[in-house]
Order: sequence, then C-alpha cells, then structure tokens
Amino acid sequence: MRIRPARRIKGQLRVPGDKSISHRAAIISALAHGSSKISSFATGADCAATVACLKALGVAITAADGNLIVNGVGRHGFKRSDKPLDCGNSGSTMRMLAGVLAGQNFTSTLVGDDSLSMRPMRRIVAPLEAMGATVQSHAGKPPLTIIGSDSLKAIAYELPVSSAQVKSGVLLAALNAAGVTRVSESSVKSRDHTERMLQWFGAALSQQDTGGTYVVSLDGPQTLAARDISIPGDISSAAFFVAAAGLLPNSDLVIDNVGLNPTRTAFLSVFESLGLTVKTKNVREESNEPLGSIHVAGRQFPLQSQTTLSGSNSAQVIDELPLLAVLGSQTPGGMEIRDAEELRLKESDRIAATVKNLRAMGATVKEFDDGMSVNPAQLKGARLESNGDHRITMAFTIAALIAAGESEIDDAECVRVSFPDFFEVLESIVER
Ligand code: S3P
Repeated sequence: MRIRPARRIKGQLRVPGDKSISHRAAIISALAHGSSKISSFATGADCAATVACLKALGVAITAADGNLIVNGVGRHGFKRSDKPLDCGNSGSTMRMLAGVLAGQNFTSTLVGDDSLSMRPMRRIVAPLEAMGATVQSHAGKPPLTIIGSDSLKAIAYELPVSSAQVKSGVLLAALNAAGVTRVSESSVKSRDHTERMLQWFGAALSQQDTGGTYVVSLDGPQTLAARDISIPGDISSAAFFVAAAGLLPNSDLVIDNVGLNPTRTAFLSVFESLGLTVKTKNVREESNEPLGSIHVAGRQFPLQSQTTLSGSNSAQVIDELPLLAVLGSQTPGGMEIRDAEELRLKESDRIAATVKNLRAMGATVKEFDDGMSVNPAQLKGARLESNGDHRITMAFTIAALIAAGESEIDDAECVRVSFPDFFEVLESIVER
C-alpha cells in the first residue's frame, strides 16, 4: 500500500462495530437460551473466526439485513467439533472460547495462525486447570486441547497480568462452575465488556473497585436468556482517524456511534494532554455500553509534551501505544513509554515493529525491554513493515500521512483483522 502525505482530514463517519464487544456478543448469545439479534457486528476477520468456531460447535448463526442472528444453545448445548477450531489471528477468540470449552463434557482443540501460535496461553490454561479442566498446550502456546469437565469448581484468581481476555475466559467458565468465582486485577482494571454483556443477558455478578484492586465475582452455575444487542463503533479503530485529524492543522472530523466505555478511552486523555482538542457529544447507553460522537479539530499549535507514559497509564492505552509513539515523535520533548512489555506479546512484537518503522522514517528511538523513547522528528516517507499486524499497519499509515514524501507499507491487507475498509474510509476523509 502506498500512502501519500495529507493536508488535512475532513468529514463525518462511522467505524465498524467494536471487535472486543462483538466477540463477546457472539459467544454470550451462543451460551444463552433463545435467539439474539446482534446489530453492527464487527466486520473483521477476528470476529468472523469466533462465529466460525461457534458454528463448528453446533450453534446456528445466520446473517440477515446486516444483523447476525444467533440461536443460543444454552451452556450445555454445544456439540463436539470433529475438526480443530480455527481462531485465525485472534487471541480473544482462543482465550475466551477456552473458558467456554472448559465446562463442556467433550474435548476440543483450538488452533491459530502463525502469529497466534507464538502467543502465550499459560495465562488462561492455569486458571482453567485450577477450575478442573485439563488443558494441553505446546509449551504454553497453541494449539490448546481442552478436555472439558462438567463439574468445574469456582476459584478465587488474581490475574498475574491484567488481561480482559483471561478475565473473560475465567468468567465464562464460571457460568458452568459451582460456587462463587472471584477474579481480581490489581494493576489496572482491564476492559469490562464481558461483565457488562453478562449482565445484559441477565447474569448476576458483583464488582468491587477498592484500593486499586478490582474484583468481579460470579456465583455459578448461571443460565442466560437471549437478548438483542447493538454494538457501538470500535473506539480502537476510531483512534487512528482521531490522531490523524488532530495532527493535521485545519482538520475537522466527527465520528458517530462510537463506544466510549471508560476502560477503553484513556488514550483520549493522553491526546488531550498533548494539546489536541477532542470532544464527546450525544453520550448515551445502548446494550449496557456507553457510546456517543467524537469531534476532533486539527491542532492549532505545536503539540505539548507528555514526556512519559508508564505504569497503569501505559497499561490503559496498550492497544494505542504504537499510535501514541507516532504522536510522541511530534511533541517538542519526544515521548518515553515504559512498563509496556505486554506489547511484545500482541499480534506481533509491537515494540520492535514500532521502533523499526519510526527509525525508518528518520526518528531517533531507543528501545527498552518494556518500551521505547522517541525523540522529536520530522518524519519522512519510507518503506514500512506491517509485521502482518493490523494495528501497526494503521498506526504507520497515520505516520505516513504526516511525513514528508510517500511511504509504502508491505502486507497492508492485514487490516482485515479488525477493519477491512480502513484504507477506503481513510481516503474518503483525506484532503491532499
Ligand atoms: C482484548 C483484550 C486485550 C487487547 C486485545 C483485545 C479483549 O488483550 O489487547 O486487543 O477483547 O479482551 P489482553 O487481554 O491480552 O490484555
């Protein structure tokens, strides 16, 4: 993909349905009894993998009028799949389905693509085994073979690293376990879409947030009832356009119907601390998730310096860090990102990929095990590497818009994982 620099961004748009919420909508409506209609389901390959796995487990899912109809089978209605369940590139699919499959009285195998096959799974294997399932992995990595148990027991589990995928996998298993399962996160509360969606489907769970520790408890077993769901636009996809509009003077962009869950919006505060003007409007709630419009105006002044992102601040913006590193190169003091070692364990090693691409564009960057330090730079067009990673591709497309000269990104079609129309939507709002 070739990307030419842009003069400004102007327009009004919507982004595809939220990827995180869509995975949960499909899985939780499959676990419920009855038929649920999901509107604005995510269009990317990751959520399609979740749907394909659920179909292979005997769940009837059809598409009608742009909606998805899921005929829930109840938590004991899944059928064993003869073939391995292919999670593609999606860690969310693998870790959350593992939680569902732990409580089934059959054996399942979860596989993924080359990237997913390198990602750590002990974090989900350990709690599911503590609940009574047997999970075989390849030295802690996929494939996972899950020998389910219909007599799972509740556990109290403190997540060693905050992770919404693991928290969700344990909560989904807890629906089938006898007793109160407690999951706690002490460093940072990860996205809470599963908690919200379970409540939307009638589950009783309690949440406490005290003294820096978040605890969610679910008294199992619990049965869910079908319910329609409307999915807001994906704020993590919107983030790229918000950044582009903020960076290019005289821009004016409105993104409607975008999810504004507080566990996902921390990057907006970082943008604001850099001097960008971002306003939210028409904030409301649908299907137990907040959403609204985002309005961004192009910067009028040079960006300000937010010198360091570390500790819980970097954990809360983990998916946006490559993009924030690009913004960091545009601040007078540069930016240091620390405590972000998890970034090396995503769809690709996002620290290495970000450092490499920023250097290719002429920035001086120091790489640390847990982050990087980016010096201020006038970026120049370059040959960029996606690493087959959708978020790296989109972050460096934005970098290419503000660079001097044309850039080229290899394998840019990997955006299909979360945002198949990313380049078309971008072209519709870019002025050159
Ligand atoms: C996700 C959780 C996060 C995030 C990923 C989606 C989710 O991963 O990075 O893009 O939908 O629960 P971790 O659970 O590994 O932190």
